[in-house]
Amino acid sequence: MCCDTKHFRHSRILIPTLLAALVLAMLAGCQSMPSSKSDDSLYRALGARAGISRIDTRLILNIAADRRVSGYFRDTDIDRFHRMFTDYICALTGGPCNYSGDNMVDAHRGLGIDSAAFNAIVEDYIKAMNQEGVPTVTQNRLLARLAPLHSQIVGNHPEPSPEIMQLILGHDPMYRYIDPKL
Ligand code: HEM
Repeated sequence: MCCDTKHFRHSRILIPTLLAALVLAMLAGCQSMPSSKSDDSLYRALGARAGISRIDTRLILNIAADRRVSGYFRDTDIDRFHRMFTDYICALTGGPCNYSGDNMVDAHRGLGIDSAAFNAIVEDYIKAMNQEGVPTVTQNRLLARLAPLHSQIVGNHPEPSPEIMQLILGHDPMYRYIDPKL
């Protein structure tokens, strides 16, 4: 069986084909990973997923006590938020977590978050990191990754209600000239 030439010819084709498929699959997997995956030092400095989870528990308690922002979370499933937020920070800092929630634009669409609210959440996060004894240098590394999210989270103004849309689309003959981006 081992020396059957037909079988040998097949394995000569099959093995390189399988290897090529394996390499392609690995490359495809790498492409879907965030670039920060290659450096997990910030993730480890925060205490890995367990450390990030503790910081996020503190964050939620701080938000609950912060009248500037607590109202935004009135209808939120807090357990899910904690899990999603922890996975997000884990992945953002190079950890091996698979964030399965919405992207930052979709997650905050329609909440009407302004810069003051964004800064308040960042303050609550800094307070949470201080409560967990995270060194300032590590805090600054994380804040540098959160800051660029400002443009995705702030300014997602509430969308017009269906009633308003019906009024515009149903009765105003000029609606088709309205720039949908306005
Ligand atoms: C500092 C950067 C921020 C990050 C990294 C962040 C991250 C996240 C994540 C990962 C989720 C979960 C999305 C999902 O469930 O699919 C989420 C949801 C949410 N975020 Fe943020 N967020 C940030 C800032 C803010 C701010 C400034 C506010 C308001 C003051 C806010 C309010 C909310 C609310 C209310 C939800 C839950 C929405 C719902 O119930 O569906 N976030 N955020």
